[in-house]
Amino acid sequence: MVLETKRLILREMAFYDVDDLFEVLSDPEAMQFYPQPFDRQMTQTWIERNVQRYTQHGFGLWALILKQTGKLIGDCGLIMQEVDGVDEIEIGYHIRCDLWGKGLATEAAQACRDYGFSQLGFDKLISLINPANIASRRVAEKNGMTLIKEIEWRDKPTCVYAIERSDSTA
Ligand SMILES: CC(C)(COP(=O)(O)OP(=O)(O)OC[C@H]1O[C@@H](n2cnc3c(N)ncnc32)[C@H](O)[C@@H]1OP(=O)(O)O)[C@@H](O)C(=O)NCCC(=O)NCCS
Repeated sequence: MVLETKRLILREMAFYDVDDLFEVLSDPEAMQFYPQPFDRQMTQTWIERNVQRYTQHGFGLWALILKQTGKLIGDCGLIMQEVDGVDEIEIGYHIRCDLWGKGLATEAAQACRDYGFSQLGFDKLISLINPANIASRRVAEKNGMTLIKEIEWRDKPTCVYAIERSDSTA
């Protein structure tokens, strides 16, 4: 286990998570801002990349386990992204669509923010979000972030939200 919140456990994802994660990432509505919903192979690759990130960086997207059921209901975590030639640390999140609107992404994102600042010592955290992804923008705001710029990122218009470490977030 990496982190615990009131309703969630964040732990490293593993290959046996593929079915539960596929349920989250294959949903067309959830993946409307991605080139396409994930198939099983893409979900497996997603897990592989995060397992590599744990080894390489000591962090990545973690599996979100709903304590009430013990089931994987999404992912959330920290990933390194190059933005305008600079390595930044992004907080990312995906929640199973039947559980949207209950504050779960915000709860997970806030825990990752606090961990990034206080345990990993980052000075700044960002979220990269499609301008039309209102729910994700709202999560970034509730995570204390502000919109700092809009850029073309990987050939797509992208809002860059950011928060810098302060005494209250460290
Ligand atoms: C973005 C996502 C993770 C949010 O998860 P969640 O658990 O529902 O988020 P929360 O409940 O913590 O907060 C969502 C907020 O967005 C708001 N919201 C959702 N849809 C909205 C809409 N269409 N218009 C306005 N506000 C909206 C909710 O009301 C809530 O804000 P509030 O607490 O002020 O009422 C979820 O929608 C998701 O998995 N989407 C697909 C994957 C994705 O886009 N990930 C982000 C990539 S950058």
